[in-house]
Amino acid sequence: MSGNGSEKAGSLVDRARVAALKAYAPYSRFSVGCAIESVDGEIVTGANMENACYRLGICAEISALTAAREAFGLDKVARIAVAGGHLADGALAGNDPVTPCGGCRQAIYEAADLSGLDIEVISSNGDGTRTIASTIRELLPYGFGPASLKDAG
Ligand code: THU
Repeated sequence: MSGNGSEKAGSLVDRARVAALKAYAPYSRFSVGCAIESVDGEIVTGANMENACYRLGICAEISALTAAREAFGLDKVARIAVAGGHLADGALAGNDPVTPCGGCRQAIYEAADLSGLDIEVISSNGDGTRTIASTIRELLPYGFGPASLKDAG
């Protein structure tokens, strides 16, 4: 994992930060945005959407993966940026980079296993000033995915 991302990573982080402005997070007050870029450079976004029945809330990554599936297919996912924090003066703010939760890592792993690509994951703080660049195989080593089912009957 490394500290400062490239300029290209920066623009994907910006898309994630803007997506977070559309979060529906009245319970946690923690807004998360996710931007997903395909191997062909197409970008889709999503944000977390909570629910009064708390456990039914969905993460920004799942929201964006759903859009990615519809737009270009899970097997075309190349890079993912995640940014989270609170809203301040109409922008996303916050100090600490937000890495995907365990469930979202599993969902990203599914996409990576389909394509054989080690999807790049850029985790950003709300301000966009601190990023962690990693890959899904770093975030979820020894993961269980579609290929793990090959011995099924
Ligand atoms: N959240 C995400 O959207 N993605 C993550 O990877 C971590 C957590 C959301 C879920 C919930 O709406 C809020 O952040 C607080 O946990």
